[in-house]
Amino acid sequence: MKKKSYDIKSGIMQKLTPPVLFLLLVVLLVNLVLYQFFSNVYFSYDQANIEPNSCSHGYFRLGILKNCLPWLSCEAMKREVRKLKLVGEGAVKRGSRQLTSFSSSILSPQQQPCEVFLSEWKENKVALSQLTKPQLEEDFIHGLQMLKSLQSKYVVKLFGYCEEEFMVLTEYHPFGSLNNLNDILNLPKYKNSNTWYNRFLLAIDYVSIIHYLHNSPLGTFVMCDSSDLDKVLSQYLLTSSFHVVVNDLDALPLVNKSAGQLIKCGHQELQGNFVAPEQLWPYGKTTPFADSLMPPYDEMTDIWKIPDVSNFLLGEVDGSDLVRFHLFDIHVACKKSPAERPSAQMVLDTYRKILASLVRESVMPRTKDML
Ligand SMILES: Nc1ncnc2c1ncn2[C@@H]1O[C@H](COP(=O)(O)OP(=O)(O)OP(=O)(O)O)[C@@H](O)[C@H]1O
Ligand SMILES: *[C@@H]1O[C@H](CO)[C@@H](O)[C@H](O)[C@H]1NC(C)=O
Repeated sequence: MKKKSYDIKSGIMQKLTPPVLFLLLVVLLVNLVLYQFFSNVYFSYDQANIEPNSCSHGYFRLGILKNCLPWLSCEAMKREVRKLKLVGEGAVKRGSRQLTSFSSSILSPQQQPCEVFLSEWKENKVALSQLTKPQLEEDFIHGLQMLKSLQSKYVVKLFGYCEEEFMVLTEYHPFGSLNNLNDILNLPKYKNSNTWYNRFLLAIDYVSIIHYLHNSPLGTFVMCDSSDLDKVLSQYLLTSSFHVVVNDLDALPLVNKSAGQLIKCGHQELQGNFVAPEQLWPYGKTTPFADSLMPPYDEMTDIWKIPDVSNFLLGEVDGSDLVRFHLFDIHVACKKSPAERPSAQMVLDTYRKILASLVRESVMPRTKDML
């Protein structure tokens, strides 16, 4: 009797084992596939650092063109580039600009007139920036030098320049600067792109750019044109594939830790709670501001500003508060004293980890239902 029941049991077990095993195998396989998929998503972001079809230094590729062409010269630009329409004026929004070390001592903040024209070059739309007050030669040359040396997927593409005429030709981005993000994503055409996921990718783009500037081939640069949120956003362009590139490289002083070389963003007093505390005048209201007494600081001012920029980029859509919740700890760390703040690399790693885990979470419940 006992033996029989045992036989029945083991019989049932034998019958049940294959489907259970099979199901387990399926679950395992699905997990494996998903894991592969997400680690690929995660990776493609990382590896895109080296653009597969980018041109070497001094060359560019544009539109349907297959070959890399050398940066356009003065002659080529004068001959082949046609201005269509004024799209931006640096001078208008330059009121609170902190000048670079070159010109700040001699010029008032308003004198930085630069016009940006939507232009046409061989049936391609391009952006032509032109300095209209040539006494800013040094600033112009410096900005151009930076644009040339920092060409990468993080920086607006350079197509040509003409130093004599103070002209720079770059890729045209119809969405304009990052300040326009909410307006663009609220257009009926792009409503479907207005997701926490896409917005989180923009924040990751932004932190990737800061990371690039802090670890550039030329050293550690600080994004100084950043006294308030609007100012920060106006330094970046939103590409039509919803990525971010940095456009304005005029105010990027160099920190050299090993040489003990720190920086100051301009020579005027900074105020408000957007800038990092170490950028404020530390000696109280009774002592008048003096540039010579103002202590210098480093790239950690950029880290301080990351939470505010990310908050703007995440916006108010379904899921953005959940992302904020996950970013809480790293953002608290960004607001600590300079030495305690995480590096851009650490912020970037944390952002990517959180993105991967959120994506996994938002897909896994559905696959569990499927099984
Ligand atoms: N490549 C571009 N494609 C599309 N729009 C552009 C491009 N470059 C500039 N613009 C538009 O022109 C505006 C002015 O750009 P510009 O670079 O002259 O100002 P800026 O140098 O950033 O001024 P500031 O230094 O005061 O911030 C930008 O905010 C943007 O709206
Ligand atoms: C930093 O300073 C050191 C020592 O003066 C120097 O050798 C190095 O080239 C500097 N680095 C940069 C990026 O300027």
